[in-house]
Amino acid sequence: MNAAERKVVLITGASSGIGEATATHLAARGMHVILGARRTERLEELAARITAEGGSAAVRRLDVTSLESMREFVDFALGLHGRVDVIVNNAGVMPLSKLEALKIDEWNRMIDVNVRGVLHGIAATLPVMQRQKSGQIINLASIGAYTVSPTAAVYCATKFAVAAISEGLRQEVGGDIRVTVVSPGVVESELAESISDPGGREEMRGFRKIAIKPDAIARTIHFAIEQPADVDVSEIIVRPTASPY
Ligand SMILES: NC(=O)c1ccc[n+]([C@@H]2O[C@H](COP(=O)([O-])OP(=O)(O)OC[C@H]3O[C@@H](n4cnc5c(N)ncnc54)[C@H](OP(=O)(O)O)[C@@H]3O)[C@@H](O)[C@H]2O)c1
Repeated sequence: MNAAERKVVLITGASSGIGEATATHLAARGMHVILGARRTERLEELAARITAEGGSAAVRRLDVTSLESMREFVDFALGLHGRVDVIVNNAGVMPLSKLEALKIDEWNRMIDVNVRGVLHGIAATLPVMQRQKSGQIINLASIGAYTVSPTAAVYCATKFAVAAISEGLRQEVGGDIRVTVVSPGVVESELAESISDPGGREEMRGFRKIAIKPDAIARTIHFAIEQPADVDVSEIIVRPTASPY
């Protein structure tokens, strides 16, 4: 693969879990990965591991709730490589609780990160991809984009929103730009650590026993990227074989 063929892939929320695994997997396959999240020390460690293995990684602090921060992230990638081939809008939070607990700050945080964050990723990359006449926007939804369970109403609402936004985007920009929704079932990561509610934490403990490794999602994302330009893997669910949900 020569330098011009190496895709430039931006990954939000690359400091742990699925984002970290995706960065590692794609970089090992020759792609330039641009890593964004708030915990830059984690990103620096990841980039050092990738470059030690001969890969290409660059780091930029990113808060997806800020459109300005997202635009700076994209400009950073453009400054380095002159183009953006893929953005993986992966950053997400999941502080589960029943609605009656009225954890309104947590509802707002889920909306800000999981929905506004994805919209900001689209807003910052779509004009670039339209200029290039190529690109791919990959959004992380969830099995929670298809079904709702107690404590997960707001989280699922944000993932339903991600699915709706992605499908609308796909219909609007089809032709040059591919849109992919990846919906994981339960995957090992730090996601459940944001749960402050004892009921939500308990619900998750049982649920997460069958979790699969984040590399499964990384491989799925790679599969969607490596298809020819006229093939859009528009929607894909990856869940544990043992999952009843
Ligand atoms: N794990 C699962 O079972 C599962 C299932 C279905 C869907 N998903 C989805 O997969 C995605 C990745 O989650 P994960 O499981 O890998 O969880 P994770 O290990 O907790 O990773 C979440 C990532 O999001 C980043 N993030 C959170 N708020 C951010 C912000 N304001 N700005 C920038 N980055 C932010 C975190 O980085 P910083 O804290 O360093 O900013 C972290 O890198 C999420 O969208 C999640 O909803 C996960």
